[in-house]
Amino acid sequence: MKGIILAGGAGTRLHPITLASSKQLLPVGDKPMIYYPLTVLMLAGIREILLISTPADIPQFRRLLGDGSRFGLHVEYAEQPEPNGIAAAFVIGADFVGDSPVALVLGDNIFHGHAFSDVLAEHVRDVDGCVLFGYPVHDPHRYGVGVTDESGRLVAIDEKPERPRSNRAITGLYLYDNDVLDIAKNLRPSARGELEITDLNRVYLERGKAELVDLGRGFAWLDTGTVESLLQAGQYVLTLQQRQGVRIACVEEVALRMGFIDADACHRLGQEQANSDYGRYVMDIAREFQAGV
Ligand code: G1P
Repeated sequence: MKGIILAGGAGTRLHPITLASSKQLLPVGDKPMIYYPLTVLMLAGIREILLISTPADIPQFRRLLGDGSRFGLHVEYAEQPEPNGIAAAFVIGADFVGDSPVALVLGDNIFHGHAFSDVLAEHVRDVDGCVLFGYPVHDPHRYGVGVTDESGRLVAIDEKPERPRSNRAITGLYLYDNDVLDIAKNLRPSARGELEITDLNRVYLERGKAELVDLGRGFAWLDTGTVESLLQAGQYVLTLQQRQGVRIACVEEVALRMGFIDADACHRLGQEQANSDYGRYVMDIAREFQAGV
């Protein structure tokens, strides 16, 4: 399976913070926001990744991640000059996706939860249609909302409804079979001129091929859309990390544990950042891994 991270947009709700920087490069705790969705794809076992962003921001992402080889990944970049919708990722990324199934994650979505990699592993296998992930929120009107029948089957998806029919937000992580390329190509722009991900998901729904997986209350799906929620997300990450002594979304550690790089390579990556706690953590992880701790 291939992976796409969509990290475009002008981040207008966070101006002036995002006047000169991509939203998805802002810090969440001790690392850039993009590390969180990137590690979600890595935990799903995905190593071929396309990062879509604006022409102005791509050089910054490239500076951070390069061609991905340091992390045992293959990272490519593509431009989305105008914010013309999430589903446009599959038009922009059609050549990259080729004939593979594909996972899309939004660059500002932060997931954290016990055994998330197991949940991912279970669902990335043999995707037939699309797999969406639902999460209960108190303000569903801000999101795509999934409506299910008594048996838990997905029956409707409403985009930012005024009167939500459920509290289940559709998160920004989506798994698709290869039909997604055709479906995206044939979508018409919405009233606001965008290719809507919800319209794309509805095509799958009409075909009876959309599955909704609930991420229960034991999970964290954090918002980064406002200054307050961005700070709260950072606090959440720092609080957990400090309490447990482990790091969330540490790209080097995930690469090591997934077998994408070996302990020596991981240690070198830590050494390059040895002046920070983060860098020293990466070195410790590599040492412990080597010692079989
Ligand atoms: C987008 C989608 C929405 C989804 C959300 C998740 O909204 O349109 O369906 O619930 O991402 O982050 P946006 O945040 O771009 O307004």
